[in-house]
Amino acid sequence: MSEDLDRRGFLARLWTWGLGVMAGAAAWTSWDFLQPIAGQSGGPVATVAPDEIPTETVIEISAMRGYLTESEGEIIPIWWKCPHLGCKVPWCESSGQFECPCHGSVFSRIGEYRRGPAPRGMDRYEFEIIDGVVVPDTSKVIRGAPAGTPETINEPPKGPECIDPTLE
Ligand code: FES
Repeated sequence: MSEDLDRRGFLARLWTWGLGVMAGAAAWTSWDFLQPIAGQSGGPVATVAPDEIPTETVIEISAMRGYLTESEGEIIPIWWKCPHLGCKVPWCESSGQFECPCHGSVFSRIGEYRRGPAPRGMDRYEFEIIDGVVVPDTSKVIRGAPAGTPETINEPPKGPECIDPTLE
C-alpha cells in the first residue's frame, strides 16, 4: 500500500517536473519573438562607401553586428542575430546563403527566410549615407518578413551548405 503511494507520489512529481520543463522551454522559445526589437541598444555605425558593397556576396561588419550586401541597386544592412533564438548567423560562401548553426534556419543572401524554425527573415537596420559612407543605425531595426513570404531574389543555393542539412 505505502509502496503504491510512493510510486504514485513519484509519478506525480515526475509529471509536474515534466510540465515545468515544457513551460520553461515554451517561454524561452517565445521570449525572442515577443520582446520588442526596437529596444536594442546601439546607434549609427559608419561602415564603408556604397561602391564597396558586393552584389553577389556579403561583407561582415562587426561594429554593426551584421552584414552589408546589395540587390538591384538597394543597399541592405542585415543584423546577424537569428530571429529564432538569437544565435549569430554566419554567411556560408559555398552555398551563398546565411545558415544558422544552432537549429538550422537558412536565409537567402538578403536575409529572406528559406527554412527552419525561425519565424521570419533576418532583421535589417535602417541606414543613411553620410559623407559618402553607409551608416546603419543599429537602434532602428526593421523586422524580417514572416516565414513563408515568397523570396524577392532568384538565387538558389550555389553549392554545398556549411551546416548539416538535417540540423533542427
Ligand atoms: S537560433 Fe538560429 S535557428 Fe535557432
